[in-house]
Amino acid sequence: MIPFTKPIIKEEEIEAVKRVLESGMLAEGKVSREFEKLFSEFVGTKFATVTSNGTTALSTALEAMGIQPGDEVITSPFTFIASANSIAMVGGIPIFIDIKPDTYNIDPDLIEAAITEKTKAIMPVHIFGMPADMKRIMKIAEKHDLQVIEDACQAHGGSINGKQIGNLGHCATFSFYATKNILTGEGGMITTNDEELYDRMLMIKNHGRGKHGGYSHYQIGYNNRMMDIVAAIGVEQMKRFEFVINERRKNALEYDKFFSEFDEIKPQVEDDGFQSAYHLYAPSIYSDKITRDEIVSALRDEGVGSRAVYALPCHKQDTYLNIQQWRWAKFVDYPDYSKVSLPHAEEIGARHFDIPVHPSLTGAEKDSIKDSFRKILA
Ligand SMILES: Cc1ncc(COP(=O)(O)O)c(C=O)c1O
Repeated sequence: MIPFTKPIIKEEEIEAVKRVLESGMLAEGKVSREFEKLFSEFVGTKFATVTSNGTTALSTALEAMGIQPGDEVITSPFTFIASANSIAMVGGIPIFIDIKPDTYNIDPDLIEAAITEKTKAIMPVHIFGMPADMKRIMKIAEKHDLQVIEDACQAHGGSINGKQIGNLGHCATFSFYATKNILTGEGGMITTNDEELYDRMLMIKNHGRGKHGGYSHYQIGYNNRMMDIVAAIGVEQMKRFEFVINERRKNALEYDKFFSEFDEIKPQVEDDGFQSAYHLYAPSIYSDKITRDEIVSALRDEGVGSRAVYALPCHKQDTYLNIQQWRWAKFVDYPDYSKVSLPHAEEIGARHFDIPVHPSLTGAEKDSIKDSFRKILA
C-alpha cells in the first residue's frame, strides 16, 4: 500500500529529544522558546507561542480575542471539526457560511450577509493548505470592526503573493499533529503581531500567570503548554521545512498536470498569487460513471492510500445537530443547525477525495498512482 501520509522523523529528532530528556528539563522552556523563534521568523510575525495542540491554540486565541458566550464567529463548515468546536468551547456560536467549490474555502461574497450585532470574529480555514482569500476577508473585517483568526492548522508554508499564511489575520493557529507539514505528534502554535493579544494568550495558556511565570495568578487560565520534548522535534522539523514544502508542491503540480487529461477530475484551485501548502491533495470527481466512494475503494484495491476526510461537513455532524446538549446551550441561543443548508460544502463533501502528496513519495509510487487512475477511469 502506498501510504496516505508518511512522517519524516530522523536521527536529528531522536538526538534532539534525547538531549532534552538528558537535561532533565522536560516541560515548556528554552527549547520551546527556540521553536517559537524559528517559527515566527519563518511566518514573519513579531510573536509566536507554543501550545499543547492546534485545538488549544484555537481556543486560547479565541479567548484572548475576547470571544464571550453568545458571540458569533463566522467560519467554514468544510473543515476538521476542531475549527468549529474551538468556537463552541469558549461559548461562541459557529456561524457556518458556504465555501467556493473551486478553492473549498469560505466564499467572501457570503460573509457580510452573515454578520449580525453578535458577530465578533471571522475564522477562515486554509483548507488542505490552500490560502483563503485573506485580502477580501480583512477588508470586510475592517469595515465591520471584526477580528480575524486564521485557522492555519493545515497550512504551514502556504502564502499569498509571497506573504506567509499565519501573518495575514490578527492572529493564526497551527497544528503539529503527526500528519502535518511540520509535525511533533501533538502540538500547536499561535502567531500574531499584536503584543497585547500575545500577552493575553500567554496568561490563558498558563493558568493566568503572565509573562514572568511564578505563582502569582491574574485570571483564570488553563494548562495549554507544550513540552520541550515536543518542541525539540519541532526545532528539527523546521530545519527541513523548505524541502518538505517544495516536495509537496512538486508532487501536487505533477498531479494537476496529470488530471488535466481527465474532464471528470477537478483539482482544488490556486488563485493567482496564492500558493497552497498542500497538506492534502484533494481533487473532486464529477462523473456519471463512478462515485467518490467507489473511486476511494478502487484506489485502495490498487494499493493507493486514499480517503475522503470531510465527507460530512461540520453542520451535518451530530455534534451540531445535537448542540442543545452542549453545556453552553443553557446560556446561549444556538441556531437550529438541522436547517442550515450549504450546497457547495455538501457537494464538495460528497465529491472530494484525498491521495498521497507527502514528501517521501517516490517517482515509482507517483507513476503507480497515475496508472491506477488510468485504469479506474478508463
Ligand atoms: C483545520 C484544522 N483545525 C484545527 C485542527 C486541530 O489541531 P489538533 O489536532 O492539533 O488539535 C486541525 C487538526 O487536525 C485542523 O486540521
